[in-house]
Parts: sequence; C-alpha cells; structure tokens
Amino acid sequence: MSLAPSKRRPSAKPAVDLGHSFDGFAAVHHPDGHFLFRRIEESLLHETSTTGGVTLDVACGAGKLAARIAANGGQAWGLEPSAEMLELSGFVVPPGSVTLVRGIAETLPFRDDSFDSILCQGALDHFAEPDAFMREAARIVKPGGRVVVALANYESLSCRIGRLGDYFGRAVLRRSPSPQRPYWQPPSDHHHTGNLSFVRGLGGDALALERCYGISLLWLAPGWGPLLQRLPPRLADITLATLDRIGHKTPALADIIVSVWVSAWRPGTERRRV
Ligand SMILES: C[S@@+](CC[C@H](N)C(=O)[O-])C[C@H]1O[C@@H](n2cnc3c(N)ncnc32)[C@H](O)[C@@H]1O
Repeated sequence: MSLAPSKRRPSAKPAVDLGHSFDGFAAVHHPDGHFLFRRIEESLLHETSTTGGVTLDVACGAGKLAARIAANGGQAWGLEPSAEMLELSGFVVPPGSVTLVRGIAETLPFRDDSFDSILCQGALDHFAEPDAFMREAARIVKPGGRVVVALANYESLSCRIGRLGDYFGRAVLRRSPSPQRPYWQPPSDHHHTGNLSFVRGLGGDALALERCYGISLLWLAPGWGPLLQRLPPRLADITLATLDRIGHKTPALADIIVSVWVSAWRPGTERRRV
C-alpha cells in the first residue's frame, strides 16, 4: 500500500521534535548529539549517492532520511509499520517526493532485485527477527547493490564509561540509581542489543560484509556534552571531528556502527541462498 504524503497531512503539528531521531535524550541538544546525527545522515547519504538509483529506507520513521535522499536527486522509498510515524511524515516529507509503504522489515512487500540500495538506520535492534530482514534485503536488492545498516552500539566507549561510572557511584559513593533509563541500557522496546559481534553475525548465508566502520566517539558520556558546550565552537568541532576519525577505524568503541553488505551470491551458483 502506498501512501501519498500530501493526502496524509495531519491538521495540527504534533509536539515532537522531528529534527532528531531519538527525542528522549536531553543530551541530543548538546554539540555531541548534533554532531552524531549530522554524521549519520552524511554517511548514509554518501552510501546511497555512491550506489545511485533507487533506495529503500526500511523502518524509515517519519521519512526524514528518505526525504533527504529525494532532495539530493535520488529516487527514495520508505517502509514503516507505524501509522503514527507515517502520519508524521506529512510534516517531514515534501508531498510526492518519497513513496511510503506500510509494512514490516521481516516480510518486505517488494519483488526480487527491486532496489539499488537498502538502508536501515537505528531500527534493526527493534526488529523481532533481524535475520529475516537481512534475508529479505538480500532478495530485493539488485545484484551489485548495497544493504547498509546503522545501529547504536551499546558496547561503545561511552557506554562502558557510563556503566563504570554508575557502578562506582553506587558501590563507592553510595548513590541511589537514577529512576530514568541510563543511556547505556537498551530501551525496553529493543529485541536485540547492538554491538560489533551482533553486527558481524547479521549477514548469514545471504549477505557478505563489505565494510564496517564507526561514527562518533563519546556521545552522551557523563559531562561530555556540557564540557563541549563550554568550549569555543570551533574547538568543539575539531574535537568531535578528531574523535569521529578515531571512531571510524574502531567500530567496536564507536557510538554508531555502520555495516555495508553485498549479496553473497557468486556467479555459477544457485541464484539466491535465502
Ligand atoms: C528508533 S526508530 C528509527 C526511525 C528512523 N529510521 C530514524 O532513524 O529516524 C525505529 C523504527 O523502527 C520501526 N520498527 C519497529 N519494528 C519494525 C519492524 N519489524 N519492521 C519495520 N520497522 C520496524 C518503528 O516503527 C520505528 O519507526
């Protein structure tokens, strides 16, 4: 089912910040949060621009990334199960620029070899069956196309520091635990916990890992955002960019892990092993 965003535009703008993907964190408003979301977007746009053609964003939320791909001249589709998110797309996606489809990642309602690239940003840990999604992605991506998964890393350096600080605070300083979910703990609606070994195991027989890199280092670490805010903006930018370059080479410690997959099919073998 396709939804033309123009027909789905709700009447009153909702009280959510559609500029960011993770609205729950106050720290998203610190320089490290702005930097992280900008880098994720830049990185995924770069991945689609190198492949070109038709892109599908699976679990697209309100469709912000798909809208950016379309604005850059690409042909973009978005798939999302949440009626609420599709409704919100009316505020994010210029009418007619993106084809939005309601569905789930585990059974993608598209023909074999339909897309040049398939993206999945910040959502695979929500899926009940990530393996089923990867098999479906392998089926609908064109030969030579790419499947790109960006996932929050709960074994990042920042999460490790957060856990250590929490342990120290409770065991040594006798602090009581915060009633709020700490940033280093996956939310209750996640079925899986993102980290490098989880990511590396995603391809199964269907997809082969071409590249894996990290984005950003130290996002949300205790005191880090406020410290960056006190630095001159230029120095904060240089610091974040330097850490990002380190994170790029050390996905095990980075805040976000990006994995780029290609079909595992080899000429002369059965067409698809899914
Ligand atoms: C944290 S949001 C990320 C949205 C978007 N990719 C972004 O970065 O703004 C996770 C999204 O996954 C979607 N989702 C959850 N389970 C799904 C499934 N089985 N198939 C497809 N999407 C799913 C949710 O509806 C939600 O929009």
